[in-house]
Amino acid sequence: MIQRNILKAKTFINNSVLKVRKNNISSDRNKSLPGWMVFAKEVLRNPKAMGAACESSPKLAKAIAEFIPLDKPGCVVELGAGTGIVTEALLKHGVTPENLISVELSSAFSDFLQHKFPQIKIINGDALHLKDLLGEDSNRVNTIICGLPFRTLPNMHVHGIVKQIDDIISNNNGIYMQFTYNLGDSSPFLPHHFKRIDHKIIWRNIPPARINVYKSEQ
Ligand SMILES: C[S@@+](CC[C@H](N)C(=O)[O-])C[C@H]1O[C@@H](n2cnc3c(N)ncnc32)[C@H](O)[C@@H]1O
Repeated sequence: MIQRNILKAKTFINNSVLKVRKNNISSDRNKSLPGWMVFAKEVLRNPKAMGAACESSPKLAKAIAEFIPLDKPGCVVELGAGTGIVTEALLKHGVTPENLISVELSSAFSDFLQHKFPQIKIINGDALHLKDLLGEDSNRVNTIICGLPFRTLPNMHVHGIVKQIDDIISNNNGIYMQFTYNLGDSSPFLPHHFKRIDHKIIWRNIPPARINVYKSEQ
């Protein structure tokens, strides 16, 4: 009986080691793949968490970055960084690496991002726990950029994420920016005290997208 249990434990440990090795190999392989391919793999793995068929276009990423004021002290937080198209545009725009934090749910993307941008802080986690994930940094956030697929995530999840964003932005008198494939001007998930201060539609993206910029008037 004891021997059988030891054998079972050994098999369990061996299988776990194999699984970990397999994951590491595939995450190492991702690092040498082009971003669009890593993105496509994640779309197949978890389409609802992606909410898009392909990465944002550099044109959309540049337009997002241009909304960022560089004269404000504090840091910029990007939610749902994917393969880093927007991250790259933010750095090119002039956001300094120590003032840029990217939060990403997928560990494959997080590894890819950390390899591509070793100089910035990448947090592998769910934006639902944003304040905990940021810790002390949450007090110095001046802008949150959201690329999360609010239209395909469960409503409860979205409300929880928006509450975290609201607490941080209202506390720091910051800016909240989201890009969406909804070209209309409604944002059903946002609280009423979020007032839109700017917006732009980018046609050269698949699909065309709208950037909305908000301030909390609380
Ligand atoms: C539409 S893709 C945007 C990717 C990238 N920003 C771009 O523009 O190409 C949405 C991203 O949000 C991430 N995501 C989804 N749910 C999330 C969550 N709860 N917390 C953090 N990231 C999440 C997905 O893994 C994916 O990378």
